[in-house]
Amino acid sequence: MHDIWIEKYRPKILNDIVGQEDIIERLKAYAKIRNVPHLIFSGPAGTGKTSSALALSRELFGETWKQNFIELNASDERGINIIRGKIKNFARTAPMGQNQFKIIFLDEADSLTIDAQAALRRTIEKYSHICRFMLSVNYSSKLIEPIQSRCTVFRFGPIKPDAIQKYLRKIAKEEKLEITPDGLETLIFVSKGDLRKAINVLQVGASISNKITAELLYETSSTAKPEDVKLLIDSALSGNFMIARNQLYDLLLKYGMSGEDLIKQIHQAIFDLTISDESKVKLIEKTGETEFRLVEGCNDHIQLEALMAQFALAGENLR
Ligand SMILES: Nc1ncnc2c1ncn2[C@@H]1O[C@H](COP(=O)(O)OP(=O)(O)OP(=O)(O)O)[C@@H](O)[C@H]1O
Ligand SMILES: [Mg+2]
Repeated sequence: MHDIWIEKYRPKILNDIVGQEDIIERLKAYAKIRNVPHLIFSGPAGTGKTSSALALSRELFGETWKQNFIELNASDERGINIIRGKIKNFARTAPMGQNQFKIIFLDEADSLTIDAQAALRRTIEKYSHICRFMLSVNYSSKLIEPIQSRCTVFRFGPIKPDAIQKYLRKIAKEEKLEITPDGLETLIFVSKGDLRKAINVLQVGASISNKITAELLYETSSTAKPEDVKLLIDSALSGNFMIARNQLYDLLLKYGMSGEDLIKQIHQAIFDLTISDESKVKLIEKTGETEFRLVEGCNDHIQLEALMAQFALAGENLR
């Protein structure tokens, strides 16, 4: 059986976490004094929030970390009562080893309703003497103020290209892969700062070939080459609707993309066009409407064709 690389290469120690240097320095300081406040890790997906919580717990607790750490998911539909039950159970026994506290890691804490957050706040207070809470969220502003004010907030940013490169090179060496320069560029483009995504895309590519090129990655990651998306938009804007229509179908087929995948790339590509800001605004507005319809479940082909028709009409003013 093949390992899942995001788990195989999950950092074990704080020093292995890349691209979040300031945060890691501060977490290492907590490990050194063997104490932590309650923490909020906020930021986009795949940037190291869960990995940091795990690595910090390992460094705080050493061999007994598994007994002193519990991970719960707040978006679990069974709700806050189950979470409180589990927390109560976990907090009932004293910390193992020489430790003064246990750690409760609550993933997706921003998915809790306001009422559930009020309950969580009371739970945090009740168990503060024996537990530290680490809350992982995409947006810390979605947490009620009394929770925010009880925690130290760490903001994880998207991972910068050089840190992504460094990490992927390490994996490539380990897995005996050759990543071409355009392959590396593509991994950075596709991941948009999400290292989990970069690793997953690399693994899918590697299941087909151990030479990782841009071409291979685009075809295996449901991502179109930016040049191809630009060609599509250019055809539509210059009024060549039938050509645009064919290009559209080629893209969907060649890259195995869904309408939602493609609309995101069209949206991105509009910003790079050499047209006036006013024209961009119009195109973005149309793109937004189409995206909404696609998310609502309308037919991909009809909606994208209609969008290209709108672009062809809007293009009349540009010609
Ligand atoms: N900063 C990082 N340094 C090293 N590896 C990382 C980093 N961020 C993500 N990864 C890789 O991606 C995987 C997922 O990361 P992690 O679970 O820490 O993300 P997350 O920020 O908790 O995301 P989510 O918001 O989706 O929960 C890890 O197993 C690891 O392989
Ligand atoms: Mg996580």
